[in-house]
Amino acid sequence: MRNFLGRRRSNVVRRQETTPLQPAGTAPISVHADKTDAERDPFCYSSRLCCCPRTLVLTPLGFSLLRQLSDGAFHSGEDLAARVGLTRARVSQLLRQAETAGLSLERVRGRGYRLVAAPDFLDGGAVRSALVEYGVTLAANGLSPLKAQNADDDIGLPGGEAPVEIQSKPAIHLEIVDQIDSTSSELLRRAPRRDIHGAAIAAEWQTAGRGRRGRTWNAVAGGSLTFSLGWRFEQGAGFLAGLSLAVGVGVIHALEKEGIQGVGLKWPNDLIHRHLKVGGILVELNGDALGPSTVVVGVGLNVRMPRELKRDIAQPVSDLASVVGRGAPAIDRNRLLARLIAELSATLATYAHDGFAPFAAEWQHRHAYQGKPVRLLLPDGAAVLGKVAGVDASGALVLADGPRRARFLAGEISLRRA
Ligand code: BTN
Repeated sequence: MRNFLGRRRSNVVRRQETTPLQPAGTAPISVHADKTDAERDPFCYSSRLCCCPRTLVLTPLGFSLLRQLSDGAFHSGEDLAARVGLTRARVSQLLRQAETAGLSLERVRGRGYRLVAAPDFLDGGAVRSALVEYGVTLAANGLSPLKAQNADDDIGLPGGEAPVEIQSKPAIHLEIVDQIDSTSSELLRRAPRRDIHGAAIAAEWQTAGRGRRGRTWNAVAGGSLTFSLGWRFEQGAGFLAGLSLAVGVGVIHALEKEGIQGVGLKWPNDLIHRHLKVGGILVELNGDALGPSTVVVGVGLNVRMPRELKRDIAQPVSDLASVVGRGAPAIDRNRLLARLIAELSATLATYAHDGFAPFAAEWQHRHAYQGKPVRLLLPDGAAVLGKVAGVDASGALVLADGPRRARFLAGEISLRRA
């Protein structure tokens, strides 16, 4: 290991300004997987627990069963089977799948099944009314509109888009789905044809959730928040370099407005509490270097994670329920999702106008490692020691070693306590 003065070449690690703005990656219930583990066994992450096979599919029928059970009461297999029109054997099979997705079920002979911690499943109506309460304008239900195309561009080639004025605060177009591969992948797939400015998708369950640095990100069905928000900017990648940090500030504001105090930031995009990760942000970008750009902001938060799963995860993780502590009112995921979307749309609108500057001081204030000694792990395997001096106007981390300063751009770098 060396401090950054020991490096012969420039200390500035430049990130390629291409898609994604930050490479994807992560974790089952934030089981933060490294590629080697996943390669060794695609169903097992860097955890003693092998809980979330990538092939696992919580089917729509599985979700309707879970919704029947979400009252926390016992339901007999017979009753459940009759309600969803399946055999008892199929009900039992679907409920076993739900358990592998992180839900705890109690089975009692003669009484049936009960969800031990009954989740408050996401409910589009509840999220929409909270969004209106938080001052957000909603778009009509249904798919977001098709993009306007030039008349001579009937095959939708890139560059054939008619220039459309970008609204600073678009109406929010909300979709809630039980299951999808990844909310961010879905918005990126739609972007060439549809206008995703203001499109928000939240999912109970992602089968191929992605995190930073090529990791996977999985979550507990009913116990996490996984959503993405699409946005368009006039500007290009250079201007947007600090956007993912600004999003971190927006997420913290949303948590605090919902009564969740004490979550901090870890450069570049982790949401942490007492050094334990409670969530992450993935910002991906498409467009020309000079703009315009289409951005997909993906946010994953651990809301309530079963204790035994936390213990079995190699990377230290926590959840928002532990942040607020026992005795606090239960976190309402529908209201929290609405608050996050409201706060992030305000954040993105401010960023489009003023860039990272209005967020820089607050980001540093919220950074759990501000002024602290840290170790940066670089993509070439080298580690660099220094004290965190802050972030610059483009969101690069500034490390200090005595009077010397060096800047590091996010990309493939990760930060550790020294
Ligand atoms: C990280 O690695 O810390 C970032 C995690 C981002 C996960 C979110 S969950 C919603 C959205 N969809 C994805 O596939 N990833 C992001």
